[in-house]
Amino acid sequence: MSVAVELRHISKRFPGVIANKDVSMSVETGTVHALVGENGAGKSTVMKILYGMQRPDSGEILVNGSAVHFKNPNDAIEASIGMVHQHFMLADNFTVLENIILGSEPKKGITIDFVAARAKVMAMAAQYGLEIDPDILVEELGVGPRQRVEILKVLYRGARILIFDEPTAVLVPQEVDDLFKALEGLRSEGMAIIFISHKLDEVLRVADYVTVIRAGSTVAEVKSKDVTARQLAELMVGSELPQPTTHGVTRREQVTLALNNVTIATSTGSRDLISHISFELHAGEVVGIAGVEGNGQAELVEAILGLREYTGSISFNNASIDHLSVADRHDLGIGFIPEDRQRQGLMMNSPLWENRILGHQRSKPVMRGFILDKNATIADTARIMEEFDVRAPGPHTLATALSGGNQQKFIVGREMSKAPALLVASHPTRGVDVGAQGAIWEELRQAREKGMAIVLISADLEELIGMSDRLLVMLRGVVTAELDPAKTTPEQLGSAMTGAA
Ligand SMILES: Nc1ncnc2c1ncn2[C@@H]1O[C@H](COP(=O)(O)OP(=O)(O)OP(=O)(O)O)[C@@H](O)[C@H]1O
Ligand SMILES: [Mg+2]
Repeated sequence: MSVAVELRHISKRFPGVIANKDVSMSVETGTVHALVGENGAGKSTVMKILYGMQRPDSGEILVNGSAVHFKNPNDAIEASIGMVHQHFMLADNFTVLENIILGSEPKKGITIDFVAARAKVMAMAAQYGLEIDPDILVEELGVGPRQRVEILKVLYRGARILIFDEPTAVLVPQEVDDLFKALEGLRSEGMAIIFISHKLDEVLRVADYVTVIRAGSTVAEVKSKDVTARQLAELMVGSELPQPTTHGVTRREQVTLALNNVTIATSTGSRDLISHISFELHAGEVVGIAGVEGNGQAELVEAILGLREYTGSISFNNASIDHLSVADRHDLGIGFIPEDRQRQGLMMNSPLWENRILGHQRSKPVMRGFILDKNATIADTARIMEEFDVRAPGPHTLATALSGGNQQKFIVGREMSKAPALLVASHPTRGVDVGAQGAIWEELRQAREKGMAIVLISADLEELIGMSDRLLVMLRGVVTAELDPAKTTPEQLGSAMTGAA
């Protein structure tokens, strides 16, 4: 086997932060090579350097044995490197086929040869089991299909070295299996695959080699068959793997949230997005909503928060909130950890202290009467950063400068600060490392003990089962089953979600 990519002593600083100092890694052709490390360890940065999106301060990159100096991603693509990003980068209002060939259209004279392009794309899709519908608009796709489009786009451009930055964070187990099958196929074709993930059991399942980075430096390179998930976690953070479990029953008499026949019709009048959903949630209770992405969970959340019109009724602490706006509901004590942290949770180009205010414009410690208390806001931002281990220089750091997992920790900290009576938590630990995951679970457990009611949505079935008192399964907008987490395995839950049970 030959070495496809070699990174030698890569270093990169940002103002006030050393993102990479001495990262080295060597990836052979025909292998899957995982890159793991805590949030902010420098994984995305070093991969952006390899992909030409960032320039290293020092260090060398060799591709197939030759030194390269990329000025931009086009140079990297030219050198047959492709990247599937942590946050997708497709054009929503173009079709799948258009997205795949965008930027590298085959020309027949001066017109685009769509017939040839389509044939080539469909052949690749079939070869790697990346099922797609070429003519559908990307905006209509869930995350699993979107990712397949991204992968095909990268392959279409001739990539032989593929970088995947947390591809499984957004996938359900069945989709993870499909992705791993595709990776197997790519590997056997002699491609080199770099795979970033916080799910260490997955890493061990799919990867041949694992490089561990801590605080910007390579600390170990191991064969995955020689290590356990626990040992990897210890190499990353020097601590043991946390478990998502709650203890005992903390449910109280008080009904915090009650939904009665909540329905959201589509504008076209076809099948309802969610249909006649009714359930009660008590103080001190966690209800887990399980479902394959796109089966109405997002709409259910939007109804509870007041982001969407619905019929039926929702009450909070025994009073109807149907007529209340999003802000009014928030003021009443409904907190929200959003699914899409970059679009819904943060103002990316503002400092963290301004992000502390987002959604909390009317509450302490942000406001003193009608006046913004900037000093108190900054101090409280610093407290959140300390308490939730948000690793960044300080409250004045821009949100965009935080690693993905640290953005998530900040949002969780901000929403928990207000101690809402009800927390709607969408994928609260998505993209955070094992240590931070344990810390967030602990925060949720403590809040539950103090009487917080929690609606938990997660693609991580072990998290759903471990943290919930009750599980509701959603399929095509309807609650199709209620399960007792104590008696449900991830496999059983997975089948219930796909309607197989
Ligand atoms: N554009 C930027 N400006 C300033 N600092 C940055 C920038 N990009 C990354 N950083 C900092 O560099 C460090 C490494 O970030 P990086 O995104 O590489 O981490 P990561 O290992 O991918 O983490 P995660 O698992 O949370 O995604 C972090 O401290 C981050 O705050
Ligand atoms: Mg990252």
